[in-house]
Amino acid sequence: MIIGIIGSGAMGAGIAQVVATAGHTVRLLDQNSEALQQASRSIEANLRKLAEKGKLTAAAAEAVTARLHPTGDIQQFADCELVIEAVVEDLTVKQQLFQQLESIVSTECVLASNTSSLSITSTAAACQQPERFIGIHFFNPAPLMQLVEVIPAVQTREGLATEVRKLVESWGKLPVLAKDTPGFIVNRVARPYYGEAIRMLEEGLADIATIDWALTELGGFRMGPFTLMDFIGHDVNYRVTESVFTAFFYDPRYKPSFTQKRLFEAGYYGRKTGRGFYNYAPETIQPEPNRDEALGNVIVNRVLAMLINEAADALALQVASRDDLELAMTKGVNYPKGLLAWADELGIADVLDTLDNLYAEYHEDRYRASPLLRRMVRNRQHFFPSTAT
Ligand code: NAI
Repeated sequence: MIIGIIGSGAMGAGIAQVVATAGHTVRLLDQNSEALQQASRSIEANLRKLAEKGKLTAAAAEAVTARLHPTGDIQQFADCELVIEAVVEDLTVKQQLFQQLESIVSTECVLASNTSSLSITSTAAACQQPERFIGIHFFNPAPLMQLVEVIPAVQTREGLATEVRKLVESWGKLPVLAKDTPGFIVNRVARPYYGEAIRMLEEGLADIATIDWALTELGGFRMGPFTLMDFIGHDVNYRVTESVFTAFFYDPRYKPSFTQKRLFEAGYYGRKTGRGFYNYAPETIQPEPNRDEALGNVIVNRVLAMLINEAADALALQVASRDDLELAMTKGVNYPKGLLAWADELGIADVLDTLDNLYAEYHEDRYRASPLLRRMVRNRQHFFPSTAT
């Protein structure tokens, strides 16, 4: 199968490496020739490293490079059977690109977007044949992250999602199926990890070092929320938060914070600018956490209850299946456990209590519990009945 990738930035280059490694001929296009050269260099360097580590033979690495065809000419995409775009996150740019593509590719060619925040349906709507359009959402860095969200648009033809899922699996990835709703699975369900941490900071419940310590040491998360936001960059993380909030018709559950907005406005994007929640200037003494376990447990319980609530609501609203939700959060953002299995372990009634107590305290819609949790407590149900005790 010949696959076209448009946009050779962080994501496009990574996706090109994945599909070329899987044996496909790849056409890689970028409007910026420097970006295209940079992508070829970074893919070759990655392949060399894999060969050095013995994960790929030198001959196989060479074969992957030979399958990769960088080009500045979109007409070269005429023989592509699938095109995935990973250009700038701008609906008009994406729509125009697909309109141009449709005049070049065959009518059988499948068209896909790697967008993280735009509606797949709205991009499909610009196409003459929207039924061949679908979302294929990779995670950064694409060669390392196993998860891929497959998102059919309202117009996508019956059966295409299943075909794409199989194809993604053949690339050695783990596909999950998501409804075309804001943030799909991961970028929706993960929001409280950032939002609730900031809220606790704003209220003075604990400082950044303590919240990060609690969630890593007591919660088992790989990175604390403030370290993680600084790592992702507030330019990216704040924009995603804002776009998810807007796309949800301003549901207070997803409300961005002024704290992060100010960091964004100040250009304090995190690691890449040397300053975010933490200061990365050399020789800066980093703040020490208050290792008070009672406080730490309050922090973990509050964030976990909010995350579980999001996952339960996504299940209730059929955004994804139970198993895909679990896979998405463990493979897309490396959570130590699936949130629904975690809810069983903690006790759904206790999770619901935490949420109801927060709601009683604040009277904010942000803390409204998913009706699914309430129903499950009433009926004494578990998300995983066979493993629950
Ligand atoms: P990037 O800025 O690194 O790369 C975008 C590339 O697209 C640039 O090289 C640019 O020259 C090129 N480009 C822009 N308009 C073009 C056009 N009309 N034709 C051809 N090339 C064009 O961006 P990144 O981070 O790779 O993101 C790309 C897409 O992937 C966005 O839609 C983003 O939302 C999505 N995404 C990003 C993730 C991330 O963590 N960076 C994760 C998952 C999805």
